[in-house]
Amino acid sequence: MTSGPLGIVAALHEEIADLLAEMAPGARVEHIGMRDYHVGTLHGQDCVIVLARIGKVAAAATTTALIHRFGVSEIVFTGLAGGLAHGLAVGDMVIADTLVQHDLDASPLFPRFEVPLLGRATFDTDPSLREALAQAARDWLSEAMPNHVAPEVRSELRMTSPRVHIGQIASGDQFISSAREVARLREALPQTLAVEMEGAAVAQICHEYGVPFAVMRTLSDSADDAAHVDFPRFLRDVASVYSHGILTRFLQRRS
Ligand code: ADE
Repeated sequence: MTSGPLGIVAALHEEIADLLAEMAPGARVEHIGMRDYHVGTLHGQDCVIVLARIGKVAAAATTTALIHRFGVSEIVFTGLAGGLAHGLAVGDMVIADTLVQHDLDASPLFPRFEVPLLGRATFDTDPSLREALAQAARDWLSEAMPNHVAPEVRSELRMTSPRVHIGQIASGDQFISSAREVARLREALPQTLAVEMEGAAVAQICHEYGVPFAVMRTLSDSADDAAHVDFPRFLRDVASVYSHGILTRFLQRRS
């Protein structure tokens, strides 16, 4: 049984705009540390929605405030990522089962990727949250997505038949946009499906406070030399529609 509200976090406004608009009429806003925390109800659930801003430090600070100031008992992070593994496509979803910081390296004092003094490199998401998100994502992609993303946008972004994957997400303070970087990351972290800039920081804070969490990402680009072109297009035309469609299903099924 959960006691506090659900924290819903994204890095950028476009990643959560439709859900924010839906909650806005009855919500109050608290401004803390350059962030707006929107406190309200969505589909019968008490929620706090916040834009974390970009990067691991921003995400960690926001997560800490959500836990301390708003008493959230679970956190869901939504947003975009670059696809890293072979066989993934723009428009696919990756739901994290575990997260790692790909740019953390305190070797030789600690093994590469290990968070010093925590004795671990990876942090697991909550199984029931991630399964619920994965089911909501599968249903939304098959039932509703084609009606919400115009065919010309899908064809321009090369979105053919989007799928849901569950696996490792790697985070770092770096927008990955070259084939060379992709090759380097694939070699260092062969099991990683996608890269982004916040999830593993949320994961570390949630681990330290014992708060269940999940991270769901839509692939906006392939982290390659075209990533800087694909990302803003996807952000503008698709990101919020995905988050709204999937989180609405997720929330409705919990209430
Ligand atoms: N978020 C979306 N695409 C990304 C990329 N290529 N690198 C890091 N974060 C991202």
